[in-house]
Amino acid sequence: MEEPQQPAEEAEAAGGRLALRFQRAFLAGRRLAEFPWQDLEEILKDSGDPSSLLAILQKHESVGAEPLDELYEALRDVLTAEESTHCYKNYLLPSGDAITLCESVAIISRGTTGLVTWDAGLYLAEWAFENSEVFGNRNILELGSGIGLTGIAICKTSFPQAYTFSDHHQCVLQQLSENIRLNGFLLEPEAGCHGALEWKNQKVELAGVQAPNITVAELDWNCVTATQLSAFRADVVIAADVVYDPELTQSFIAVLRKLSTCKDNEKLPDVYIAFTIRNPDTYRHFQSELDKFGIRWQVVPGPQKNLFPYDRHATITILKLLV
Ligand SMILES: C[S@@+](CC[C@H](N)C(=O)[O-])C[C@H]1O[C@@H](n2cnc3c(N)ncnc32)[C@H](O)[C@@H]1O
Repeated sequence: MEEPQQPAEEAEAAGGRLALRFQRAFLAGRRLAEFPWQDLEEILKDSGDPSSLLAILQKHESVGAEPLDELYEALRDVLTAEESTHCYKNYLLPSGDAITLCESVAIISRGTTGLVTWDAGLYLAEWAFENSEVFGNRNILELGSGIGLTGIAICKTSFPQAYTFSDHHQCVLQQLSENIRLNGFLLEPEAGCHGALEWKNQKVELAGVQAPNITVAELDWNCVTATQLSAFRADVVIAADVVYDPELTQSFIAVLRKLSTCKDNEKLPDVYIAFTIRNPDTYRHFQSELDKFGIRWQVVPGPQKNLFPYDRHATITILKLLV
């Protein structure tokens, strides 16, 4: 018996959703292999007629682009472009607004992993969109911010009272500050209360809403003191993709232990860590170190809705820690 065919409207809606996924992947500069080709093939197979493909092409044309001309032009630009060390990527938010980030083209450059956006950072941002009560009107400290995707997404959508981005690498801090400015927040350098140079924003309105107080701070897990951590007065501490080798795990656990002495109004900060499990041994090692120092942890359900383009086969998890 033949499979029933999808009604035309359903096929068109599915085509529209898929076109949006292609658009998100394209704007975020994902590798061609990561585009949802398989889903495209499925849709074409299921539909049994070319209307889905037409819907995708029409959707593309409705944004005023000629598919083939645009592709040829993009190809010409790629072939004739001089090799660049950085590029601009765009991440579409649920509001339709976008975050634009200047990123390195290499996953490791200038001796750091911090100049590109990692999948766990995107995952944590997606989780934040669905759990904005965790961040709204609160004082957030992010550790190992990299070039800022997660924090900028939270500042734009969850309205924290204050947000401190932090990292230890000078190039990362520089690029992070530029990216924050690129997304509409004003940031001026000033001497921080922790001795190091910090960048702070003037309170501005962004799209008619009061922007959070933003600080970019130099914070090295190997030398930060409990007093310095305490001075951030964080209600919530977050980090994405910061546990990927045993040496780093030690430094990071040391920060968590110092955080446990940061009592503001008798309440310890809530801590959320997102990470990609590349090597199960590294993950188990991190968990056993948490257990060793009496830091309780629980796995938090991940985001329901996938918004950003990242490797869907990656295992990413979020832990809530009770420091
Ligand atoms: C894999 S990147 C993740 C960046 C970002 N959170 C993301 O998800 O895209 C790890 C980050 O941790 C930072 N980092 C590594 N060691 C650090 C240390 N000892 N102190 C502070 N930050 C550190 C790096 O500079 C880098 O930005």
